[in-house]
Amino acid sequence: MAYYYDEPSRTFNEYLLVPGHTPADCIPAKVSLKTPLVRYRKGEEECPISLNVPMVSAIMAAVSDDNMAVALATEGGMSFIYGNQTIEQEAAMVARVKAYKAGFVESDSNLSPEMTLGQVVELKEKTGHSTMPVTSDGTGTGKLLGIVTERDYRLSRMSLDLPVSEFMTPLEKLVTATEGTSLKVANDIIWDHKLNSLPIVDDEGNLKYLVFRQDYDTHKENPLELLDDEKRYMVGAGINSRDYAERVPALVEAGADVLCIDSSEGFSDWQKMTIEWIREHYGTDVKVGAGNVVDRDGFRFLADAGADFVKIGIGGGSICITRETKGIGRGQATATIEVAKARDEYFEETGIYIPICSDGGIVYDHHISLALAMGADFVMLGRYFARFDESPSHKVMVNGTYMKEYWGEGSARARNWGRYDLGGKKSLSFEEGVDSYVPYAGPLKDNMAVTLLKIRSTMCNCGALTIPEFQDKAKLTVISSTSIVEGGAHDVLLKDKTPYVSNVTN
Ligand code: IMP
Repeated sequence: MAYYYDEPSRTFNEYLLVPGHTPADCIPAKVSLKTPLVRYRKGEEECPISLNVPMVSAIMAAVSDDNMAVALATEGGMSFIYGNQTIEQEAAMVARVKAYKAGFVESDSNLSPEMTLGQVVELKEKTGHSTMPVTSDGTGTGKLLGIVTERDYRLSRMSLDLPVSEFMTPLEKLVTATEGTSLKVANDIIWDHKLNSLPIVDDEGNLKYLVFRQDYDTHKENPLELLDDEKRYMVGAGINSRDYAERVPALVEAGADVLCIDSSEGFSDWQKMTIEWIREHYGTDVKVGAGNVVDRDGFRFLADAGADFVKIGIGGGSICITRETKGIGRGQATATIEVAKARDEYFEETGIYIPICSDGGIVYDHHISLALAMGADFVMLGRYFARFDESPSHKVMVNGTYMKEYWGEGSARARNWGRYDLGGKKSLSFEEGVDSYVPYAGPLKDNMAVTLLKIRSTMCNCGALTIPEFQDKAKLTVISSTSIVEGGAHDVLLKDKTPYVSNVTN
């Protein structure tokens, strides 16, 4: 006979935290959000890889490319580059993150001397960048001949046909630095010469990078940056249980810090075989997460198989229709609570702590706090990150409002067979995700700052300065449907929803 659970399966929205005592020195500025990413012998050794904030971006084409990875690592989290692309493309994205030198920018708006002022204006509109190096071949790596900034031309006085060579600031009037110059020295040069940007050239005079005054300041403002031992940004990468024998070596070679098997349902022999292959070829040097599972049995299976972390969640993602199409899944809160218990039980038995990640279904910022309180070590988010400037998808205007496109890996648009296919004819496949829009929300940095402040504040309300302390002290309550209604603004007329407000004076 089928097994029936005693409790209904619940989502985050059905829970609240009950505040505990807040000591006077428990303030958001003192909260550490550092959290383990991979398995380790807790109490005996340091976790080999930790996150500085408990947020990672989803293994999705609409979310995690190299651009997102740099932006998120800057804030202390990690992206998992999407795996539904060729091995070469994915490895190239990983390599770009590892090669990215904070503060050193490869120029993407370049001119050749023959180009015209009209083309300068067009390029500026296209890229939004006003500093444009002029190189012999018009590429970002050609011989540097000069630079054009807004200070070099006046549209009201100059013909659009004028060639760049006639109004650029030529090389002999530029201050440049050679390859190998440190960011600190580059910044000193920028300040000493009152520059806005500094071209870095190689021995032959070819352009390598630009360093901008503003970027150095930004770099200094990011104390939580997630960096490896060589001060490069850390990045994860998605793999599947089909082509791992080719994909894993390419990603490892490209410098991926952690891998994650990306599957909608991870309680399978395929995942075990993938982990075993990695252990056989790389021992424990290559770190690999697995999932997704939603109960104790699934966790135990992947823990015993050697997974470095285990991801939780089936059917809770914003773009997910798995529950509708296949009738499988579990409320994300219930799944997280059960898997967290299984993780603690495993630790008691073996001394090995395997971090768990709550993946999908985070609708409000406070859901992240709930997931952490319930025992998640970190959360994976798709919709949240898809809304930002840094996500790879298009920004489009829909009914007068800016939106970003966001589609599921199981949608017809993604056709990510590695994640969903269990074999059989592709023509008979069905969708497990939708193609959608999410409201555009601007830069990742600004949004994450608010989200993280909310998490820190909640932790202080519960008297906790670290995530383990939070998990220890948290008191959680299921709330009634009436309390859920009361949880938002109610019985007032919201101003932004009110069509007319007469003159109001203070
Ligand atoms: P979100 O943060 O609620 O948008 O959920 C993101 C998560 O949904 C991802 O990390 C995946 O685990 C999951 N996911 C991605 N694409 C699909 C899909 O097409 N169907 C079902 N789940 C998906």
